[in-house]
Amino acid sequence: MTKKITLSLMVVSWLGLSFIGFNPPASAAIASAAPSNTSYGGSPDILVPAVQGPSVGSRLSSRAKTSWPWYITRASGLIAALALFTLILSGVGMITGYTFRLLEPLTAWATHRAVGIVFAVSVLIHGIALLFDHFVPFSVIQVLVPFASKYREVTIAGHNFGSLWVALGIFASYALLALVLTSLLWMDKKPHRWKSFHYLAYLIAVLVFFHALNLGTDLMHGIFRTLWIIMGLVIAIAIIFRLRRARSI
Ligand code: HEM
Ligand code: HEM
Repeated sequence: MTKKITLSLMVVSWLGLSFIGFNPPASAAIASAAPSNTSYGGSPDILVPAVQGPSVGSRLSSRAKTSWPWYITRASGLIAALALFTLILSGVGMITGYTFRLLEPLTAWATHRAVGIVFAVSVLIHGIALLFDHFVPFSVIQVLVPFASKYREVTIAGHNFGSLWVALGIFASYALLALVLTSLLWMDKKPHRWKSFHYLAYLIAVLVFFHALNLGTDLMHGIFRTLWIIMGLVIAIAIIFRLRRARSI
């Protein structure tokens, strides 16, 4: 059951990936054809001319050839975000009982687990794709170690916080690793310990919200940004429901 759901979710989400990822936002003719000597340390907006070509098809394929890691990073980030949203709502729903109005308990549990795996795989692809990007180059150390990168450094009230937004994504990834591993290994054997680790989900949601809000090309402007903020508010309301339930569980 879980295998079937995981596979279907993978296929559906990666079809979505192709659509979203190869559809660059109008405001961001961004890094797709940037000169290779452009520096990105701390530089938020990169405007470059569109790729020239005789037809839309050849332009798309040329863009895909040069910038595929960037499209994959964006698309996998967005799929991870959707999965996270579903996980928090279905998780809180399992505690409050709302999820079981839509799905019977076994299906609800298997779907939640399957979406958890899709989430983890998408985050893995999100990080790995960055290593292949020629325009926004990340090394393995910069993907694994918080603040090692210089990408979009943050200055608040005159204080430099380094690559804070990237670091939030890295912290979220470590928390996710702990959460998924403990779920797969401990859920039956050490339920109390597993449960404590599962609360990391809420921390992940907060970290990812600010990470994506401040870094994402697609979430930078327009409808995607509005949707992202609405999703953040929905999660906040779900957490309030969860806290009210906490008195009785
Ligand atoms: C992949 C393996 C996962 C499994 C097997 C799993 C399983 C479960 C189960 C059985 C529950 C219900 C707990 C209960 O009734 O007390 C739950 C709750 C929950 N899950 Fe997961 N989960 C997984 C991954 C994730 C991930 C990756 C996230 C989000 C980052 C997440 C977010 C949540 C949330 C927010 C709750 C409600 C927790 C609470 O407030 O008590 N889960 N999960
Ligand atoms: C739980 C882990 C993570 C999640 C859920 C996540 C999610 C996201 C999302 C939703 C976006 C916005 C995508 C867009 O607007 O198109 C994004 C952007 C980005 N993330 Fe992550 N991320 C995570 C971890 C990481 C890690 C570990 C790194 C590596 C250092 C990273 C680097 C980036 C970068 C550089 C961008 C900007 C890409 C762009 O130009 O749109 N993320 N992330």
